[in-house]
Amino acid sequence: MRTSMLLTVAALVGIVLAHPHPNQDPPQPEVTEDARLKANDVRILNRPINRASTAASLGTTTWDPPAGMVSALEEVWTETLKRRPNGHGAFDKNREFIPKLMANYHRTGAGKIDYCVAMSNERNVTALERANMKSGLQRVMQEWVDTLVGFEGFPITKVDLDVISYAVTHRSQVQGDTTGLDIFTTSEVDNEGTTKCDPRCYRDNLKTSTDGETTCPGGEKNMFDMELRLAQWPMNILGFGAEWGQAFRPWFIFRHTDDDMLWTLRHEMGHSFGLIDFGTDTVPTGQENFVMRGHRAAYITEFDAWMLRDWWMKLKAHNGW
Ligand SMILES: *[C@@H]1O[C@H](CO)[C@@H](O)[C@H](O)[C@H]1NC(C)=O
Ligand SMILES: [Zn+2]
Repeated sequence: MRTSMLLTVAALVGIVLAHPHPNQDPPQPEVTEDARLKANDVRILNRPINRASTAASLGTTTWDPPAGMVSALEEVWTETLKRRPNGHGAFDKNREFIPKLMANYHRTGAGKIDYCVAMSNERNVTALERANMKSGLQRVMQEWVDTLVGFEGFPITKVDLDVISYAVTHRSQVQGDTTGLDIFTTSEVDNEGTTKCDPRCYRDNLKTSTDGETTCPGGEKNMFDMELRLAQWPMNILGFGAEWGQAFRPWFIFRHTDDDMLWTLRHEMGHSFGLIDFGTDTVPTGQENFVMRGHRAAYITEFDAWMLRDWWMKLKAHNGW
């Protein structure tokens, strides 16, 4: 057991170092929320910022990034291919947000993302906490999507994000009205002791609804696109994001879905859109402060938006959308 726990931590460190953040390593003992907030207060670091929501360059509907961003965007794409040869499954397995948004759009005609929340702890989650968490996810999803609306044939304007299922240890952890929620308690438990969302219901690799109905208990309505993992991992990190979803400490995501600390969700969801990290050593030419550079911006910036637009261009070309 001991060995297995150590291996687990080592594996997690591997993932984390692949997305380095200035304050997250080396692994440290649990720290209090107050200390962490102090160490991660981006409001001081970066003001004013060029927010995507007010950037004039994002009014254009064709590939025409500001001249000062052209080399930086080329550098980012070269680095992206180096670090994520298949875009973390975006090109070969249709993972990440854009392929999933497009798959759901082609299937339902609407912007749609469904989440499963995996709570690998004994914490209870109240109806209010659940509602806040969902509205934080919804808000950030729409902020990223807003940077693509009307751009180069991107067909979606609004995304309806829903949390459709929970994976918990005890059913009673999900408090309040649970009508319509799929709650797993018997789902696969991996060797880390983590409660997982039912892998049969992961809408991966563009499963058709027919596949879904035969493999996911409960059928199409119980299938999810992304996971939110809430775990109390023993390291000084706020969260991480990958092609399967995002992970946070539960206290963090429940308490900071409506304040400036929501930048971490913007950042981690950015990873699930395919965007890579920039730390202190690798900075794209001329770009200092943006949300995908950890702790440097509280909001999605003009540069973040053009990086995402670049992803859309690449995926559109690859898939013939
Ligand atoms: C969760 O709520 C139940 C009652 O619904 C209570 O018995 C239990 O102690 C709570 N667990 C925690 C960790 O607060
Ligand atoms: Zn990161």
